Amino acid sequence: MKFAASFLVFLPALLFADLSKQVDTHAAAVESKVIEWRHDIHQHPELSNQEFRTAAKVAEHLRALGYDVKTNVAVTGVVGVLKGGKPGPVVALRADMDALPVTEKTGLPYASKVTAEYGGKEVGVMHACGHDAHVAIAMGAAEVFANLRDELPGTIKMIFQPAEEGAWPTPIWGAQQMIQEGVLKNPAVDAIFGLHVRPGVSGGIYVKPGPIMASADFLRITVTGKQTHASRPWSGVDPITISAQIILGIQTVASRQVDILGSPSVVSIGTIQGGERNNIIPDEVVMTGTIRTYDPEIRQAYFDKVTRTAEKIAESAGAAAEVYIGSDTGYGPTVNDQELTEAMTPTLQRVAGDSMLFESTLTTGAEDFSFFQKEIPGMFFFLGVTPPDQNYKTAPTNHSPLFMVDDSAMITGIRAMSHLAVDYMLQHPKK
Ligand code: NI
Repeated sequence: MKFAASFLVFLPALLFADLSKQVDTHAAAVESKVIEWRHDIHQHPELSNQEFRTAAKVAEHLRALGYDVKTNVAVTGVVGVLKGGKPGPVVALRADMDALPVTEKTGLPYASKVTAEYGGKEVGVMHACGHDAHVAIAMGAAEVFANLRDELPGTIKMIFQPAEEGAWPTPIWGAQQMIQEGVLKNPAVDAIFGLHVRPGVSGGIYVKPGPIMASADFLRITVTGKQTHASRPWSGVDPITISAQIILGIQTVASRQVDILGSPSVVSIGTIQGGERNNIIPDEVVMTGTIRTYDPEIRQAYFDKVTRTAEKIAESAGAAAEVYIGSDTGYGPTVNDQELTEAMTPTLQRVAGDSMLFESTLTTGAEDFSFFQKEIPGMFFFLGVTPPDQNYKTAPTNHSPLFMVDDSAMITGIRAMSHLAVDYMLQHPKK
């Protein structure tokens, strides 16, 4: 009896160890295919919402593995569902598929020579953000799950998302549109994981609970005064001087008007346009800029305080300022669910090894993965992919025409995604 009882106590641990070992075996078996897939996708990059070839490759792969596959979700998105042999939660893994209008300069044998029309111009197209790696890693993880299907205690939903880089001029992001089309329902997803490659120790994993990437919001301020001769400013209202005050004034939002102890934030004006001639004070000045924050409350405070500061400065000079902040053309910060991230960190530690798991710093880049995290608990992490012959501290970053991904980091990505899904299922058993 005693033996039987302790055997039962250790049964889950044994199951866990066995499943974990199987994940590693299947991940190792798929590694070389993942590297091949990435090279192929890298050589055939496609711009946002034009990921036709990539989507077809993904869909074919998922169907062959026995997934229930939906295509054309949010234009070119692909969703694959695999119900495991045992009951359990639904875990989603997300991979973004789109490339950028960048002309590749890496000189790699599989470098892109693709061109496309973008903004009325012929441009080079490159996977300069490394989404080729995300797709290939997710395809590999999908195969790991298919091989473990009978033992899998839950359901896997693979989300291959288009248009992470934006589908301008349509003011909707790939993640946002997929959610609107119901990607997190039927079956309802309990948790979602996503990764991004970036310069870093090859195979290193970088993560933190809470905010990890910034929000990005478009800002436009239009100052309307009254045109007059520049030699007689008192007979008009000068929007140039007022704009100068507004530019400085909105800097006090960061330094005087929000709690600086909470989290960092930035507002920058990037363009300023007004006037036709040196001796005419114009009617109007238009400025555009960007707002970056890490906290939804501070983000909202920026919306209110930038608007108030600009409007009141203009009013004080007898002019008017109209402030447009395009939360519809931007998105919120990427915020890792505290509880989920704490629960999954031991998994990432096991995958990366103690010396290769790092606490991520905040990055001022932005990610539309944040839309998923607004709906359900989600965790986003970074995978270091700097080739060993480069210094990750000075290596070309994402969006550079020289950005490179080290093939030997792929296995860590496959293992991380696979173990996260399986461990989450084991941690949340359902009858
Ligand atoms: Ni990216």
